[in-house]
Amino acid sequence: MTLERTLSIVKPDAVAKNIIGKIYDRFESVGLTIVACRMTQLSREQAEAFYEVHRQRPFYGELVEYMTSGPVVVQVLEGEDAIQTNRRVMGATNPEEAEPGTIRADFAESVQANAVHGSDGPETARSEIDFFFDEGDVCQR
Ligand code: CMP
Repeated sequence: MTLERTLSIVKPDAVAKNIIGKIYDRFESVGLTIVACRMTQLSREQAEAFYEVHRQRPFYGELVEYMTSGPVVVQVLEGEDAIQTNRRVMGATNPEEAEPGTIRADFAESVQANAVHGSDGPETARSEIDFFFDEGDVCQR
């Protein structure tokens, strides 16, 4: 087991539904600690850059539109195996395939408006954390 950090986003659909606290409760319930957080409205340039890896996908344009449609909350989660722990608690990308009791099964609207984002591996976690936060923004708990 290793202490890790991962980048998480509460997406516009979940912010609009006023369930930020319910989602934070899911993170904290599985032992993840929020060590940095901020609400922000992504610009088109930021959303395009964050999802650059998906640029060739047919849903890229809609994804950028959606992620800029309202504010998001970005946070760094810390804990043992934080990357996989967060992915387990989020559930599958498509809420119809997500395990019961996961965030996406309980709160997501669709494969696009799927409530949360979480880094998918250690390198992605590092670059996604750096995308939103300076080292000084991350607090020791
Ligand atoms: P996320 O974990 O943020 O990573 C990429 C995002 O693209 C994903 O969550 C979904 O919001 C979105 N996405 C993935 N597949 C599709 C799809 N088939 N149609 C629309 N959006 C998708």
